[in-house]
This record gives sequence, structure tokens and C-alpha cells, in this order.
Amino acid sequence: MNKTDGLVQALERDRTLSDEALADLLESSEADGLLFEAADRIRRRIYSDAVYIRGLIEFTNYCKNNCYYCGIRRDNKHTARYRLTREEILACCEEGYRLGFRTFVLQGGEDPYYTDERVCAIVSAIRTRFPDCAITLSIGEKSRKSYQAYYDAGANRYLLRHETADVLHYGKLHPPELSPANRKRCLFDLKEIGYQVGSGFMVGSPYQTTENFIADLRFLQELKPDMIGIGPYITHAGTPFAAFPSGSFELTLRLLAVLRLMFPYALIPATTALGTIHPQGRERGLQAGANVVMPNLSPVNVRKLYDLYENKICTREEAAQCRGCLERRVDSAGYRIVTDIGNAKTGEDHGLLSVI
Ligand code: SAM
Ligand code: FES
Repeated sequence: MNKTDGLVQALERDRTLSDEALADLLESSEADGLLFEAADRIRRRIYSDAVYIRGLIEFTNYCKNNCYYCGIRRDNKHTARYRLTREEILACCEEGYRLGFRTFVLQGGEDPYYTDERVCAIVSAIRTRFPDCAITLSIGEKSRKSYQAYYDAGANRYLLRHETADVLHYGKLHPPELSPANRKRCLFDLKEIGYQVGSGFMVGSPYQTTENFIADLRFLQELKPDMIGIGPYITHAGTPFAAFPSGSFELTLRLLAVLRLMFPYALIPATTALGTIHPQGRERGLQAGANVVMPNLSPVNVRKLYDLYENKICTREEAAQCRGCLERRVDSAGYRIVTDIGNAKTGEDHGLLSVI
């Protein structure tokens, strides 16, 4: 057995490794086969072959922020902007419910048009019409008071990637008005309020180092999120990072597997970005430990406009087509889509002590 194989065994057993050992594992492809096998074993032990689906509704591409990597940043003047009305959002949910979705994810840029009052009105309309569904928001950094208001209106999950846990790296990806301290404050506020929280980061973003990944993993150990979303960074020509290459597919898979071993109970999506950089990206992501997919429920006429990065997949298909396509992909990878609200399991479900 070589050194990295031993590290996989230790990670599966202990759910953590020293910084040095994590760096060795992340920087070598030698143990990938063993790593993916171990990740799949753990996910099957806890989640069997179930894959949870989340219906993604990208309801606005206006954003007041200017993140250097993001295609819908404020200063990208080449993107036509759109907003969905409450009725349009509800119609997406109707269609999603019919197709078996029991979680709706409302994602958007930080768009001041959607005041707390408007967000709460949308959330409570969905809550009233779909009492058996989870409502997930992903609308960026807000005050604790706003998060509380959305929660009281009926939202129960929130996705906010920390993006990078390293202060210097954060400063290279974002303009000075955005701070890593505020991003982290948001995440802990969300947890305290009672949301199921999702965080995560991009893989291969400009200036990222192995040490940055280790800081990300340590931050996630501190936060203990229910959901962890990672995907490759993908270049967009309309951003200041146009000249940087996209992130690596292999490294993203390796990190997915490491996350599954460190956070056995986490809900981990095989992201659209992963499906964009490799034709079988989402299938391979599932086989490396992911257990969630998030097909798009947004109306087809706005899909292309939510262009965070180039060549984004699934921008032409109707929701039903996307659902069917994913069903086939998930089946072919050896798993099964379930109609379920899809909460994270805990150690208590298995008579074990949960770490997340
Ligand atoms: N405004 C919300 C927020 O900031 O959390 C949600 C929307 S934001 C566009 C969702 C995620 O897209 C970000 O957290 C980021 O990680 C990812 N993203 C943005 N630009 C990307 C790119 N060029 N490649 C890959 N992922 C990207
Ligand atoms: Fe706001 Fe990307 S800069 S969503």
C-alpha cells in the first residue's frame, strides 16, 4: 500500500487528517480510485442509492455586487437583466411539484428590488401553496433581521458559499466592500436562527492554493453545514478574470470525495458547473460522493441570461425535459432519484453520533 492509500483509510476512519496529510491527498491523483470507492461506500451506508433533487429557480440576474469571477456582476454590461414576478415563480413551483420536486431553491444576485417585504411575500405564498416542501433561499448577504424575517415567512434552508476561508484569497476574488468576516457572520446568523445551512467554494478559482483548500475544509468543520456545494470555477469573458483558466475536473472530484469522507451526513450536490466542464460531470460527481442534483425550473426564456460562467448547460430544455434527462443520467451512474423533501440525515438515524 502506498502512502496516499493509507491516507484514504485514515480519512474514512477518523473523518479528518492533519493539514500535511490533506495536502498530500489533494495534490496527488494516486489514490483517486480508492478515494472515490471509499466516498461511495460511505454515501451508500448513509443515503443508500438515493439522490435528492432540488428545483432551482433563478429569479433575478440583477446584482449590486461586483465579484471578480461572476458573469452577472454589476459591471458586466453585456448581460441583459431580468426579474421573475411572484406569479412566475409560483408557476415554476407548480410545475416542479408536478414533476416530483419537494424543495425549491430561489437563487439570485443581490437585487435591491427584492426588498424584505417582497421576499417574504414570495416565500409565504410558496409556503401556503406547498406546505410539504422545503423553501431554500440563496440571495446573498443580508442582515440578521432580514434572515429572521424570511425564516418567519416560511423559508427553512439557505445556501451561501463562503467562497474561500482565507482572508487574503477572499480579497483577490472580491472588491474591497465585500468582507469574509461579514460572509461568515451571515452563515453563523443563519444557523442560529434555525436554517439548514449550505456553504462551499469554487475549485480552481484564480490564485487558489492547496493551503486555501485546507482552510476551507477547516472552516467547514467549524461551521458544520447541512449542505456543502462545490464546483469548478469556470471562466467568463465579461469579468476581470477573463484570462484565467477554469478549474480542474479531477481536483473537483477529489475534493467531493474528501468532503464525503469528512462530512458523511452532508448533502452534497453534483453541480451544474461540474456538468458544464465535463459531459459526464454530474454522473462522475455522484460516483465520487455527491447525493444531490439541482435541475433548473426557471422559465426557458431567461435561462441563458443567468450566465454566471460560459457554456452553462441545461439552458434550452423545459423543466420536464431536464427532469427526464437527469433521471436517465442518475440511473446510468447507479443511483435513483427520490421524491422526498431530502433533509440531511444525522447520526441518530444510524444509532451513531453525528458530526454534522
Ligand atoms: N448572490 C448569491 C450569493 O452570492 O450567494 C447567489 C448567487 S451566486 C451567483 C451563486 C454561486 O455561483 C456563488 O456562490 C459562486 O460560488 C458561484 N459562481 C459565480 N461565478 C462563478 C463562476 N465563474 N464559476 C463557477 N461558479 C461561479
Ligand atoms: Fe452578485 Fe455574482 S456578483 S451574484
